[in-house]
Amino acid sequence: MKNKGLIFSYVLLFGFLVTMYGYGMGVKQAKIPALTKQSTLTDHKTVGILQYVSHPALDTIKEGVIAGLKKAGYTEGKNLTIFFQNGQADQSKLATMSQQLVDSKADVLVGIATPAAQALANTTHSMPIVLGAVTDPVSANLVKSLKEPGGNVTGVSDKAPVKAQFQLAKKLLPKAKTVGMLYSSSEDNSKYQVAEATKIADELGYTVKKYAVPSTNEISQTVQVMSQSVDFIYVPLDNTIANAMASVVAEANKSKTPIIPSVDTMVEQGGLATVGINQKELGIKTGEMVAAILNGDSKPATTPVYTFSDGDVVVNQKQAKLLGITIPETILKKAKIEGGE
Ligand code: TRP
Repeated sequence: MKNKGLIFSYVLLFGFLVTMYGYGMGVKQAKIPALTKQSTLTDHKTVGILQYVSHPALDTIKEGVIAGLKKAGYTEGKNLTIFFQNGQADQSKLATMSQQLVDSKADVLVGIATPAAQALANTTHSMPIVLGAVTDPVSANLVKSLKEPGGNVTGVSDKAPVKAQFQLAKKLLPKAKTVGMLYSSSEDNSKYQVAEATKIADELGYTVKKYAVPSTNEISQTVQVMSQSVDFIYVPLDNTIANAMASVVAEANKSKTPIIPSVDTMVEQGGLATVGINQKELGIKTGEMVAAILNGDSKPATTPVYTFSDGDVVVNQKQAKLLGITIPETILKKAKIEGGE
């Protein structure tokens, strides 16, 4: 008797919970559109971030994304949940992680670096995707045009100021005649930038030699070989090379071959100098674009891809000393100095 009563109340409680749950879902579903329109920041949101690989630039960009979201009113743990995945440069991991992030029903997805953005875009054609630092979203097949992306993807392009980089190289290395371009054959972002850099280097009278590595394993040997036949090494915004920058620098320093990379973090790691886009700011801008979509204030299809008009001059003094290069005062005056002094 006692038992039956107990079971009966359990059944009642169960029924009650099921009803409340159903009711709650119904209410939630009905309310979502209205809440989005009012762009209430108290609303809890979810953002899924897929980063291609770890290297100082991408790690800084990721921090920037979180800072940008915070600036726009979304704080992790308060009104924001972030699902973060790092693909470790592995295509099959990127595909699985993209699927997981899509399944998580995040409100917005963020792809940091071209291969990560491509993996996300291959997985969903409907969820909003914001590009964090994709060199050329058009040639990477991520948007129709920078002005009018047209689909579910928009974001920030970090197209490098290549001309300014070569003009700087000319001033620092006036005797150099041959430039060797070091990049990964698997990254669309690098193919695009190397094509552009080749045109500019040609115009400036350089002989261009290209060294595309199939994977990380061939980098040291390639640098050893190219150091014998080029006057300096140019590195585009290439994730594979950025990830192995320490061994590139170690190998190039053996023959005192200067490296002109494309970003401040690679100068910090032992590149000689560059004109580059500030990676933290790039991330912050990305985070702000994510927030605008979360607020319901913008849609990827009609939001132009953001591009930076110019970069900062960055010089590594320690590296200059090691290579026996004197940096002209005029450059030092406007440069951010890495490597002490
Ligand atoms: N632009 C690169 C891409 O499209 C990603 C990137 C951003 C990067 N900052 C970098 C690569 C610095 C190398 C170094 O994939």
